[in-house]
Amino acid sequence: MAKVISFINYKGGVGKTTTTYHIGCALAMFAPRKRVLLIDADPQTNLTFLCSDFVAWESRLKTHGSLETLYAAYIENRKISIRDIIWQKPMNRPELSGVDLVPSDIELLDIDLRLQSKTRAATTIQEIAETHLEQRSILQKAIAEVANDYEYILIDCPPNLYLATQNALYASDGFLVTLMPDHFSTVGVNFLDRKIQQLLRERSLAEQIVNPTAGDTKTLPFHLCFVKVNVTAGRTQLVAQEQMALVRRMPRFADKCFKAITEDFKDIREATTEQCPVFLNDPGSQNDNNYRRMAEEFGTKFA
Ligand SMILES: Nc1ncnc2c1ncn2[C@@H]1O[C@H](COP(=O)(O)OP(=O)(O)OP(=O)(O)O)[C@@H](O)[C@H]1O
Ligand SMILES: [Mg+2]
Repeated sequence: MAKVISFINYKGGVGKTTTTYHIGCALAMFAPRKRVLLIDADPQTNLTFLCSDFVAWESRLKTHGSLETLYAAYIENRKISIRDIIWQKPMNRPELSGVDLVPSDIELLDIDLRLQSKTRAATTIQEIAETHLEQRSILQKAIAEVANDYEYILIDCPPNLYLATQNALYASDGFLVTLMPDHFSTVGVNFLDRKIQQLLRERSLAEQIVNPTAGDTKTLPFHLCFVKVNVTAGRTQLVAQEQMALVRRMPRFADKCFKAITEDFKDIREATTEQCPVFLNDPGSQNDNNYRRMAEEFGTKFA
């Protein structure tokens, strides 16, 4: 049965996609090799274009659709299977044959508005709670169908906490927050934590309204990892070290931070330009080593 993990941060450009991709590829590449499904939940489609080029994606979209197709089917009351959308082995490399993808599409951009347009005029608390759960469980129900086909399902979330991210959260067994160790991220991590816990409490409340015998507040295991850490000697490096130490000392996060970090090097930028994980594009490089260690830790922490 797959472990479903979301990569979340409402901040943009903090390594969510790069980390989802590299951890997914590492889990599939290195012994004991795992079967991995990557889900691109972001209309920016960055994870999709790390796995595929534009032409292949465009032709695939016409025949099999994308994550957006799943939500559209819900909105239009059509039955659809995620199996029809899953793109098997999108990366055409033997080392990465264990990775499948649910691609994204820019059409996901207004999914919140479209989902909300389906909201029924509710007259009772029960109906409000039912709609709340229904609109946030679309991905969870779809994933349940293929949960036995994979060891890990990794969801790359957009930089917000709206309905696409909430669907990811409801489908997840845990989540990983990627953080850049700067002042704004450190301040933001407390807000993000509170907000996610609030979303999980709302879910629990809705479940208890729909089913009064349902259990109490759900909590999800979560971890933090520092990425793009500046290691060039100077003031920025010092700030990065200070901010990492600050978060690692916070009682709430002390046992939740990964030891492994990724460093701000061109090996990653070059690998992403080549649409190739750093393990294959630049073996022996700093972030080849960093992401291998991060993936090992990921496997232990989300076992
Ligand atoms: N360790 C690293 N070293 C250098 N560059 C990195 C590293 N990790 C990520 N990057 C670069 O930082 C940029 C942002 O990363 P990424 O797209 O993964 O962030 P994101 O959180 O998914 O962004 P968004 O919120 O827009 O989806 C990319 O150009 C990526 O190549
Ligand atoms: Mg991203």
